[in-house]
Amino acid sequence: MLKHIDHVGIAVPDLNAALETWRRMGLADVEIEEIPDQGVRVAMLPLGEGKIELLEPLSEESPVARFLARKGPGIHHVAFRVADIEEALQTAKEQGFELIDTVPRRGAGGARIAFLHPRSVDGTLVELCQR
Ligand code: CO
Repeated sequence: MLKHIDHVGIAVPDLNAALETWRRMGLADVEIEEIPDQGVRVAMLPLGEGKIELLEPLSEESPVARFLARKGPGIHHVAFRVADIEEALQTAKEQGFELIDTVPRRGAGGARIAFLHPRSVDGTLVELCQR
């Protein structure tokens, strides 16, 4: 059901500082968007068929703020492209994965996304992403 890695999500305390880091890495093309219901400001940096997604919390209540407080800046999730997210969620459930989202929500760039709980994926927060 997984087609390819869509993006790697990285939690950062300061989006502008992180953008400068990745600009020095050669990634200067960027789209910035706020996703208030997930409590984040997101920068998407395209790279080949994938992307780097930088996530900055909008408030202390944001799940990304809690992640930063607990673990510090770093990789937050890996997102996999799927053709049909409802089908992918059904398959994931049948295969014994724990769904954080039973219904897809809207992600950056208008994607339809859903998360699988890291405790069912060897500690990695997995995002399913349909574009
Ligand atoms: Co993501």
